[in-house]
Amino acid sequence: MQHLLSLFDITPSDLKTVLAVAQDLKSRLAKGDRPPILERRVLALLFEKPSLRTRVSFETGIAQLGGSSLFLGEDVGWGKRESASDFTLVLGQFVDAVVCRAKAHDRCEQLASFDALPVINGLTDLCHPCQAMADVLTLLEAFGDVKGRHLVFVGDGNNVAHSLALICAMLKMRFTLACPDGYEMNGDWLQRIAQRYPQASIERVSDAKSAASTADAIYTDVWTSMGQESEMAARRAAFAQYQVNAELMAAAPSHTRVLHCLPAVRGEEITDDVIDSPQSDVIVQAGNRMHAQKGLLVWMLNRQWIDSNVSA
Ligand code: CP
Ligand code: NVA
Repeated sequence: MQHLLSLFDITPSDLKTVLAVAQDLKSRLAKGDRPPILERRVLALLFEKPSLRTRVSFETGIAQLGGSSLFLGEDVGWGKRESASDFTLVLGQFVDAVVCRAKAHDRCEQLASFDALPVINGLTDLCHPCQAMADVLTLLEAFGDVKGRHLVFVGDGNNVAHSLALICAMLKMRFTLACPDGYEMNGDWLQRIAQRYPQASIERVSDAKSAASTADAIYTDVWTSMGQESEMAARRAAFAQYQVNAELMAAAPSHTRVLHCLPAVRGEEITDDVIDSPQSDVIVQAGNRMHAQKGLLVWMLNRQWIDSNVSA
């Protein structure tokens, strides 16, 4: 069964197909065309953490494709009311796929382990694959092609950074993380990328300005992710020199785009003048969550439609 727990579950060639479907559906939507490719399919959203973009983009995306969704919060008692297998096997009787936002990545893995229904990772502590797909879609729109482009992530080596590093490896982009000591990406994750994609260009530096000087895109995310609130003061101190501000942007080429997965803590990891500048694509990027995920849903649930309608 096809799951998307991380971008390790998809090949570069299939990723390109998903992105091509996303672009196709985005341009159809701009003309008012909402093809019912997933008519009467039902998507569950099982969320343990707050969300605006992920929830709304999946719910609207499947609705535009002729399907429907249901949001499952705390009250369904995932991991509390009954065994994981009873929960998942029952859910699989009712819905066609589930998007899971979990505090711990292994909770999503457990859900997928029963092969009762396709599981899509809607963010865990380890990675955020749907975010990275939308980010690449945004860069494709900005640059036409992403191969050889340099993405510089200024901030924490977190879930978002992990998926970006991997997607850059898949699409032959350069990835640099500029972060303070102690906030690097997970070593096992990096090893897995190196094994799967030996040619990957992934670097970690502590000097954000030197990395910015060759950046095609500068990306940042919050210094304190959901669930890390008790570390907020220490993180503020550690990341103080890693703000994406006018001074950092002055070190970057004039064509450099600015990305942020949102929600942002304005004035912390990024300043108002930069996030609101003409170089910033953050709003388009957030909108692309829906288009990228529509591509993913069609690829997971109706590949036949792709074979007869889209050339990657
Ligand atoms: N970027 C993102 O995943 O946003 P939400 O937490 O609002 O879903
Ligand atoms: N790194 C952030 C991303 C939010 C979309 C978090 O996990 O809270």
